[in-house]
Amino acid sequence: MERDRVVIVGGGLLGCAVALEIARLQGARGGGAEVVVLERAIVGAEASSAAAGILAPRLEAHGREPLRSIGVESLTLYPAWVASLGADVGYARVGLLKVVRPGDSPASPDVDARWLDAAAARAMEPGLAPDILGAWSLPEEATVDPRKLLPAVHAAAAAAGATFRVGEEVTATDAAGVTLASGERVEGRVVVCAGAWTAKVPGLRALPVRPVRGQLVALSGAPIRHVLCGAGGYLVPRMDGRVIAGATVEDVGFSRGVTAGGVRAVLTTATAMVPGLASASFDGAWSGFRPGTPDELPAIGAVDGVWVASGHYRNGILLAPLTARWLAAAIVDGAALPAVFSPGRFEERGGAASVG
Ligand code: GLY
Repeated sequence: MERDRVVIVGGGLLGCAVALEIARLQGARGGGAEVVVLERAIVGAEASSAAAGILAPRLEAHGREPLRSIGVESLTLYPAWVASLGADVGYARVGLLKVVRPGDSPASPDVDARWLDAAAARAMEPGLAPDILGAWSLPEEATVDPRKLLPAVHAAAAAAGATFRVGEEVTATDAAGVTLASGERVEGRVVVCAGAWTAKVPGLRALPVRPVRGQLVALSGAPIRHVLCGAGGYLVPRMDGRVIAGATVEDVGFSRGVTAGGVRAVLTTATAMVPGLASASFDGAWSGFRPGTPDELPAIGAVDGVWVASGHYRNGILLAPLTARWLAAAIVDGAALPAVFSPGRFEERGGAASVG
């Protein structure tokens, strides 16, 4: 009998992480299905390498559940997950300061946030502007370098036994497998991890996942110590001293590239928070597409017999380890997934089909 197979559509961080987790879980069980990742272009070329790498569930959730609790849970998995990769991925629990400037809302971002007055905030982060009113401190928040994380997860998945096939365009998807542009049929249980392109996967029930462009800028020569968030954007320290400044939030479809207005907006926020960045070197700018959903929650589960892990919007890097763990447990062991994230929830008739 032919060996069972899991076919993952999309070689971004989520596709790689799901492949890794399934391969490892099956390895611990003494074997299992072949794991194949189909990537149409380059592994990790899209949002996975464009992301800033903020691991900040308490800030990104704005107190909303269940986003906050799954984000916190995934963040707690991070140290062991990145250690298991055996590579430096720039993970650091640097903490986050939500900076409050004149005109900003002074509201606390989270129950765990501690208020620092301006002097205390500037003692922690000396480059902060003299006019700040203070900052909310979230010491558990962290950062990772997605451009190091992606190749490390990719390599670990391959080492664990997953096969990567690049340059493979999927032209049809169903509960029993996919068809490739070459006409080849690849049978198996299908997992769609196509990020902002999820709604374009042929054969998959149309899910309302849309691209939300973010533009980012890399600066060097004026390092910071913490993730700094302000009213209009954020600054993320890289362990090599660079600062990643982001990000625009734009509904422009799949229009790629950076714009003068986007870069200006990012740099205006950046230099308002840390004026010294005005003399930093400009190391480049890029954009990526977040996979947005109407309720800003991810779609994790099965629909019409096809597994989906998509729609992570601003939190794909953060939620990768937990999403992968959930899907691997569901696919390998038949574990139940939280209904709140069901990809079928977007339809009035509701309810995703269950798969065995
Ligand atoms: N997580 C940050 C962003 O999406 O811009």
